Amino acid sequence: MRTIDILRPTTIEKVVDESSNIRSFYFRDELSLTSEPGQFVMVWLPRVGEFPMSLSLPRSGLASIGVKAMGVGSKLLYECKTDAKLGIRGPYGTPFDLNRSRKSRRIVLLAGGGTGLVPILVLSRAFDSSKSTRGIVVVSARTRSEVPFLRNFAKYHAKKDVYVTTDDGSLGQKGLGHEKVRELVESHSIDEIFSCGPERMMAQIYEIAKRNHIPVQFSLERIMKCGMGICGSCTIGDKVLCRDGAVLNEKDLSEVRGEFGHYTRAKTGTLLPC
Ligand SMILES: Cc1cc2nc3c(=O)[nH]c(=O)nc-3n(C[C@H](O)[C@H](O)[C@H](O)COP(=O)(O)OP(=O)(O)OC[C@H]3O[C@@H](n4cnc5c(N)ncnc54)[C@H](O)[C@@H]3O)c2cc1C
Ligand code: FES
Repeated sequence: MRTIDILRPTTIEKVVDESSNIRSFYFRDELSLTSEPGQFVMVWLPRVGEFPMSLSLPRSGLASIGVKAMGVGSKLLYECKTDAKLGIRGPYGTPFDLNRSRKSRRIVLLAGGGTGLVPILVLSRAFDSSKSTRGIVVVSARTRSEVPFLRNFAKYHAKKDVYVTTDDGSLGQKGLGHEKVRELVESHSIDEIFSCGPERMMAQIYEIAKRNHIPVQFSLERIMKCGMGICGSCTIGDKVLCRDGAVLNEKDLSEVRGEFGHYTRAKTGTLLPC
């Protein structure tokens, strides 16, 4: 067994509301601090269960995750207060590859929705330190109160390069994230697109990128139980997402296109429409 696979006890030291439905939890864990953008941890909440969660930005030596209440388990995690006990395994998964392009100057588009904005935020900071890369961000949510991390994105990008879309038009442009991505692809010379969010949004962005011959890296979500390539619950096509992803590039995505954007798997393994 590898060191990262051993459950490490820790305690929540700080809780921050990022929006009306996403909360950041900060905890001490040295191995999480060694993670790269796009990696995730398995978070065990005693007496409840274990959840895959993307690692978010660390602060003052503490690692963090951003949690949205989805079902009963994640709702209990979302409601945790400081001093609550957690167990952490990982970091797992292949990170985003920040250096695939050999161009000396390039423009990357980072598009995220919901908790998919957690890994996009980490990427955003990583590109901030690159003098040769201009990052343009599309932050999408259903409504104004659900838009997280805006102040952080404003720190890492020029104001004109941070776009917001909301389904109801209460903040930024009314509409869906992929519609803004389409506009930006038409008006800018985008070299690569990174995305994490609802799979139907990413499937639309994939088609836009494919039509325009733009390479992509998307972080996908599937039910995960072991997180280390053993149980097979996270398969998509012939990929084991916790081991071969969760970040997939355009070649990987074309190989799983029959399922990507169309089907996901229930906890029993049954295929369900996305
Ligand atoms: C690599 C990865 C990174 C993730 N990062 C984050 C994150 O940063 N923040 C966050 O809040 N959530 C994240 N998730 C999703 C999170 O793990 C699930 O929302 C959580 O496990 C739901 O647990 P539950 O018991 O509350 O839900 P359940 O009651 O079991 O299910 C509620 C709903 O969530 C869906 N669901 C359950 N588990 C998953 C899952 N693993 N992936 C996708 N959908 C699921 C179910 O199909 C159902 O529709 C991530 C998932 C993966 C695979
Ligand atoms: S979660 Fe078990 S193989 Fe991926």
